[in-house]
Amino acid sequence: MTKRKIVVAVTGASGAIYAKLLLDKLQTLQAQLAEVAVVMSDNAKQVWVFELDNKAYSSYPFKFYAKKDFMAPFASGSAKFDTMVIVPCSMGTLGRIASGISDDLITRAADVVLKERRKLILVARDTPLNLIHIRNMQTVTEAGGIICPAIPSYYSKPKTIEELAMTVVSRVIDLIGLEDESYRWDGI
Ligand SMILES: Cc1cc2nc3c(=O)[nH]c(=O)nc-3n(C[C@H](O)[C@H](O)[C@H](O)COP(=O)(O)O)c2cc1C
Repeated sequence: MTKRKIVVAVTGASGAIYAKLLLDKLQTLQAQLAEVAVVMSDNAKQVWVFELDNKAYSSYPFKFYAKKDFMAPFASGSAKFDTMVIVPCSMGTLGRIASGISDDLITRAADVVLKERRKLILVARDTPLNLIHIRNMQTVTEAGGIICPAIPSYYSKPKTIEELAMTVVSRVIDLIGLEDESYRWDGI
């Protein structure tokens, strides 16, 4: 099995819990991973602290890159990171990616993933959506990206906020292509 190289980018949309749960889950799946690189926007750090009341984003055993890092390996196609997940993905970051505005490490890395025809997963979060958001989602989809909205499901009867949020993160794990034991709807 080829071990995976994954970039996790976190932006300042609501839903820091999705980033936390994904990073937690990736820690348990390290046997399938060669490398996990993490980059956060400044707004993401603020929203994380506001929503989760901690700064645990700095405690993961993954390499963190500054948003303005110019030399990060995954901003180049030759580093062969196979997947990038932006979780949660703000409408601002979505719009910059859709417009090709690569003005920081997150948007440059996303641009590289699309040009190399690798996997870009945007866990987009806002509500309601305006026509610009919808058109940007269409543009990114046509360019090969996957819009995976941060919309939980209820058929697993989640009892806690973590269980509810995990329904989104499980979909992301599936989309990345990692093996994991998690609840799947398989009919009654
Ligand atoms: C508490 C809080 C929640 C927010 N939630 C969202 C959201 O769900 N979706 C969104 O697109 N923007 C949201 N925003 C606004 C973004 O943080 C803002 O657009 C920011 O410029 C995004 O920057 P970034 O994409 O570089 O992280 C939120 C802001 C705050 C303070």
